[in-house]
Amino acid sequence: MQHPATLITGASSGIGRQIALDLGKKGSPLILVGRNTNALENLKSELHAHNPKLPVTLHRIDFENDPLHAANHLAQLTQSVPLKGVVLAAGFGLAGEFTQLSIEKQHAMIDVNLRAVVQLAHHYGTRFKSERQGQIVLLSSILGFQGAPGFAVYAATKNFIQGFAEGLFYELRPHQVQVICVAPGPVHTAFANRANMSFWWADRPENVSRSVVQAMTVITHPTRCLTLRPGPVSRIMGYTLGLFPRRVRVWVLKIVLGTMQKK
Ligand SMILES: NC(=O)c1ccc[n+]([C@@H]2O[C@H](COP(=O)([O-])OP(=O)(O)OC[C@H]3O[C@@H](n4cnc5c(N)ncnc54)[C@H](OP(=O)(O)O)[C@@H]3O)[C@@H](O)[C@H]2O)c1
Repeated sequence: MQHPATLITGASSGIGRQIALDLGKKGSPLILVGRNTNALENLKSELHAHNPKLPVTLHRIDFENDPLHAANHLAQLTQSVPLKGVVLAAGFGLAGEFTQLSIEKQHAMIDVNLRAVVQLAHHYGTRFKSERQGQIVLLSSILGFQGAPGFAVYAATKNFIQGFAEGLFYELRPHQVQVICVAPGPVHTAFANRANMSFWWADRPENVSRSVVQAMTVITHPTRCLTLRPGPVSRIMGYTLGLFPRRVRVWVLKIVLGTMQKK
């Protein structure tokens, strides 16, 4: 019988790519989704260099502009493939003042970070519920617990994902479906450059992936909402910020993010 696969969006770069490498090393068949086909092909070669027999399928999907159609298309492509879980890592940020950033780009961010994620979670959540098994990994952020001046829409998308994950966790748990939410701090990936930022303190994608893969393979059916804080930077920043009231956190982030924004 075919082993169930893990589907990863945002697999062509950064956190999603590292999770693919680490799950692949454990022998998990993979369905890798991204836009950059060269990067996906390179990742497939890297996985096959380690294990030539690993089943790896690639899909080029763009979640901007028509995220519901793109998500439905992906759902259709994977309809008859046995799945163990989905990691919804595709996303991007944009630093700058809300009124000065392109409104089209900010809507694109909402498409990729939110609308596609909600559509995919609805499809795979429904499917896993009927199968009475499955895992859904959602990417929140350290910015998912308050507003962030200079990153207003991005932080709002991650506040949504954080709240969404917490609600979904309890809805799906009785059906043996596990929701894992990950809230990284800054991580050294292509994210900073795409967001017009420069991180002077950040975790490595390997740290994030280690926590996610451990949660996906070791911790099964936790009793409370599982929000992972992967890596030392995420833990130090997350727990320190958590000591303060929300308005103080917003003010602190204004200063910290200001030092990371490219002029
Ligand atoms: N890095 C951080 O500091 C950090 C911190 C907290 C949370 N996160 C979250 O972690 C997730 C992964 O980010 P990362 O750090 O790994 O960044 P990354 O290296 O830039 O990777 C982002 C991934 O998302 C995909 N993506 C972007 N726009 C897309 C679109 N329109 N359609 C389909 N796929 C698209 C990219 O695909 P292509 O390259 O093929 O376009 C890429 O595979 C994101 O949700 C991000 O918000 C990151």
